[in-house]
Amino acid sequence: MDGNGRWAQRRGLARTEGHAAGEEALVDVTYGALAIGVKTLTVYAFSTENWRRPVDEVRYLMNFNRGLLQRRQHELHAEGVRITFSGRRDWRVPKRVLQSMDEAEGLTKQNKVLTLNIAFNYGGRAEIVDAVQRLVADKVPVKKIDEKALRSRLYHPELPDPDLVVRTSGEYRISNFLLWEMAYSELVFTDVLWPDFRREDLFGAIEEYQQRERRFGGLDK
Ligand code: IPE
Ligand code: MG
Repeated sequence: MDGNGRWAQRRGLARTEGHAAGEEALVDVTYGALAIGVKTLTVYAFSTENWRRPVDEVRYLMNFNRGLLQRRQHELHAEGVRITFSGRRDWRVPKRVLQSMDEAEGLTKQNKVLTLNIAFNYGGRAEIVDAVQRLVADKVPVKKIDEKALRSRLYHPELPDPDLVVRTSGEYRISNFLLWEMAYSELVFTDVLWPDFRREDLFGAIEEYQQRERRFGGLDK
C-alpha cells in the first residue's frame, strides 16, 4: 500500500498523516472485496526494509498498525473476515504489537468469508529463506526438495497464489512482495496514492485483469 507519504506531503501534512489516511482506504477496499466475493486479500503493511525509516516513523507505524487492529477487528470479525499475518515475528516487532496480532488472528480464525492477510515485517526473500530453514529443520532429503515441499513451508501455504497484484502510487516495482507466490500473477499499476484508493479502484483493476489472457507459460487454447 504505497503513496501515503506523498499524499501527505502534497497536502503539507506530516508523512504519518498519510499513513493515518490509509486506514480508510484499507477498510473500503476490504468491504469492496467482501461485496464482490473476493476470498483472499493480502496487503503489504510493513516490509523487512521499512526498518530503515526514521525511528519516529517506524514507531508510529508499529503503534498505528496495532491501533488499526484494535479499532477494526470486531467489525471485520462480524463480517466473517479471517485476519492472518505473513512476516517475521522477530525481536524488532514490539511485544504488544505481536500480542494484538495474535488477538486478531485468534478472534477471527474460524471465519471463512474473506481472508485478510496482512504482510507485516514481511519480505519475499525472507519468506523463501525461512522456508528453506524449515526444509533443513525438517530434515527433508535433498531429492525430496521440490516446489511443493518449499511452497508448503511458506508463511501461509493454504492461501492460493494471487491472481492479481495491484501496485499503487505510480511505482513500477515488486519491492520484495510475495516473490514466490506472484510468479504468474497479473500485475496492475495505478498512479492513485494509497490514501485515495477505494473499492472502485479495486474493481477497475479487476476489470483490467479480466481482459488479460493467462497462459501460465503454455499456449493459447
Ligand atoms: C506506504 O506509503 C506505507 C508504508 C510503507 C508503511 P509510503 O510511506 O511508502 O509513501 P511514499 O512512498 O513515501 O509516498
Ligand atoms: Mg513508498
